[in-house]
Amino acid sequence: MTEDVQTEIQEELAAADAVRPEKFEYPIRIRGLVNQFGDTVIHDHLDLDVRSGEILGVVGGSGTGKSVLMRSIIGLQTPTAGEIEVYGKTLDTITDPEESRDLRRRWGVMFQGGALFSTLSVAENIQVPLREYYPRLDQRLLDEIAAYKVAMVGLPPDAGPKYPAELSGGMVKRAGLARALALDPALLFLDEPTAGLDPIGAAKFDELIRGLADTMGLTVFLITHDLDTLYATCDRVAVLAEKKVIAVGTIPELLATEHPWIQDYFNGPRGRAAANCKQATARQDGKN
Ligand SMILES: Nc1ncnc2c1ncn2[C@@H]1O[C@H](COP(=O)(O)OP(=O)(O)O)[C@@H](O)[C@H]1O
Ligand SMILES: [Mg+2]
Repeated sequence: MTEDVQTEIQEELAAADAVRPEKFEYPIRIRGLVNQFGDTVIHDHLDLDVRSGEILGVVGGSGTGKSVLMRSIIGLQTPTAGEIEVYGKTLDTITDPEESRDLRRRWGVMFQGGALFSTLSVAENIQVPLREYYPRLDQRLLDEIAAYKVAMVGLPPDAGPKYPAELSGGMVKRAGLARALALDPALLFLDEPTAGLDPIGAAKFDELIRGLADTMGLTVFLITHDLDTLYATCDRVAVLAEKKVIAVGTIPELLATEHPWIQDYFNGPRGRAAANCKQATARQDGKN
């Protein structure tokens, strides 16, 4: 091994060590966030802390700014005002490109719609972030890592060489998740990951996310309006309404608040069905 490869590995290990979950109680801290497009205010002094190792569900009506919030955290949207810290750093104020890269490779993202590159195979899609961040990896190693990620998300080994158009909706989502996990991130952002899946496919995907988060110790920022997903996967839920996070807590904690939107959401017919389903599953688990 040459000396620069050794140095590179050491730097990489030090950078990974710097974001070890136990070093940050709150990997994401947002204070006074304002986002505005023209005269339209989307977020008006929004505050939110995401705890290390939790799956935080983010809910809110359509157009309340869930995706914009996620894009602000990962630096794709420059906020009008306010502060966002990820692992103690503020992307806006980082001037050193190396430092910015170090931070960015700590997270994986699955965007709304979860598009893969249609002209690339699943394995090639997974290799895109690897090539970007680790240009020196040789093809054999890239193939090995891709195969490992394919297995990790529960895809069969022959999914690697396939193109997105050859896969079912559920498999495309899994491939998107594999790509988001390519760099072994500590933080995972998922924007409506189960949208478009049938209930069985969605439930399996929920299980996969919960399992991966537990085994890898991930912190997950999960935007969803799937109530079943909230019950099945999330440790806490943040509710976006009135341009702010109006409440954040476990589902029982949210149910104890009197806010009309929260009450309607969780106690409406769909909310009750999801809660009953969760209770039934818990009873079944108890029997097994
Ligand atoms: N780049 C943009 N320019 C102007 N308006 C935008 C932009 N991105 C989002 N918006 C608007 O911000 C609001 C919140 O969007 P979004 O975060 O996508 O909502 P959702 O909660 O459904 O994910 C919407 O009204 C949307 O039209
Ligand atoms: Mg959205």
